[in-house]
Amino acid sequence: MLLELEDVTAFYGPVQVLEGVSLAVPEGGAVGVLGANGAGKTTTLRAISGTVRARGGIRFDGRDIRGMRPDKVAALGIAHVPEGRGTLTDLSVRENLRVGAYLRKDRKGVAADIDYCLDLFPQLQHRIRSNGSALSGGEQQMLAIARAVMSKPRLLLLDEASLGLAPGTAKTVYEAIGRLRTDAGLSMLVVEQNANLAFTLVESATVLETGRSVLTGSTAELRGMDEIRRAYLGG
Ligand SMILES: Nc1ncnc2c1ncn2[C@@H]1O[C@H](COP(=O)(O)OP(=O)(O)O)[C@@H](O)[C@H]1O
Ligand SMILES: [Mg+2]
Repeated sequence: MLLELEDVTAFYGPVQVLEGVSLAVPEGGAVGVLGANGAGKTTTLRAISGTVRARGGIRFDGRDIRGMRPDKVAALGIAHVPEGRGTLTDLSVRENLRVGAYLRKDRKGVAADIDYCLDLFPQLQHRIRSNGSALSGGEQQMLAIARAVMSKPRLLLLDEASLGLAPGTAKTVYEAIGRLRTDAGLSMLVVEQNANLAFTLVESATVLETGRSVLTGSTAELRGMDEIRRAYLGG
């Protein structure tokens, strides 16, 4: 397994918000995390990227990364695209992409990956000199993903990439994420409220309820469950 979480708990100050989250992402795999608002999806990603205090087992490529500083986690090859996108709004699109690659020394590789990202998201090509703040919500989401790709990660953590986007834009974004899998074999952990969209991408998913993993299954298994259909698939 590339990433393994075993019985992870997490805390904001004294308040415990995760109570036993377990999941695994195989090398090259895409795994979903489903759950209602407040279930602990974002906190799970934060526990991995080192931005919230956590206990339990968090292993990446066999190495214990729990408690590691966020910059160290990023340097190991874990890129976190946060909820709300985190686009740097006072920088241009090109500058945002360069920031994503700040740890890399291979200038030719960086230039090639900027071209790759602009091919992946042609809309960004047209906005290359625009300020992040001038972009639409969809373009900001594309830029946040592209910036993560620029760090050449082994694992992408995606937090609700479809949130607030028109359905057509969300579909475009998820098609591009799908290409990242087929082109680059990028592994990913995908948090989504829109399970229909997530299921176009992931092969398995874990369901969180009030900070616990309550169910894990293949996409086909989960689609077949009445309670999943009712809670997450709109009927
Ligand atoms: N910074 C914070 N301080 C205190 N509690 C928080 C903080 N962020 C989130 N929480 C609480 O932790 C729980 C899980 O939140 P979160 O991981 O954001 O859920 P989700 O992403 O599934 O909506 C919620 O009850 C939320 O209110
Ligand atoms: Mg969240």
